Amino acid sequence: MSLSAAEKAALVCLWGKVAGHADVFGAEALERMFLSFPQTKTYFSHFNLRHGSPDLLKHGGKVLNAIGYAVGHLHDLSSALSDLSDLHAYQLRVDMGNFRLLSHSIQVTMAVHFGSEFTPVAQSAWDKFLSAVSAVLVSKYR
Ligand code: HEM
Repeated sequence: MSLSAAEKAALVCLWGKVAGHADVFGAEALERMFLSFPQTKTYFSHFNLRHGSPDLLKHGGKVLNAIGYAVGHLHDLSSALSDLSDLHAYQLRVDMGNFRLLSHSIQVTMAVHFGSEFTPVAQSAWDKFLSAVSAVLVSKYR
């Protein structure tokens, strides 16, 4: 992943604003994914997916905090996400196409909350970064 200095700064800056609210952002991103792409709900049949449910907030927090951890390990995403990569490849076997859908939903959530601060440079940064994270998470699929 090659990020310009401006993209890297935008990535780190916006993560700083999400960090304290990872559960709320994550829950909204998941809810957007489930509503826009209902097929993604099949992996979460054991969750209560209603708006504001504790399941959504808890899982949303886990996903976004994993993303925050990755923001702190941009030069070593493969090692930083190795355990998550094992989980998604060997246990969950989430269809690869779904990563793009979650990445999109995360970006829409950012755009809604940050408005004009989610500049084209910021979006480009988040798009490249989430693609790189997704690539690591599907890297062990066979
Ligand atoms: C679990 C992150 C994409 C389905 C998890 C966990 C994290 C995570 C941190 C919890 C691991 C643990 O409890 O140890 C991510 C990240 C993603 C991503 C960073 C991409 C940016 C997806 C996608 C799907 C998915 C696209 C399916 C549409 C699941 C499921 C679980 C899980 C079903 C287990 C939930 C449970 O039963 O608690 N993921 N994930 N993930 N993920 Fe992902």
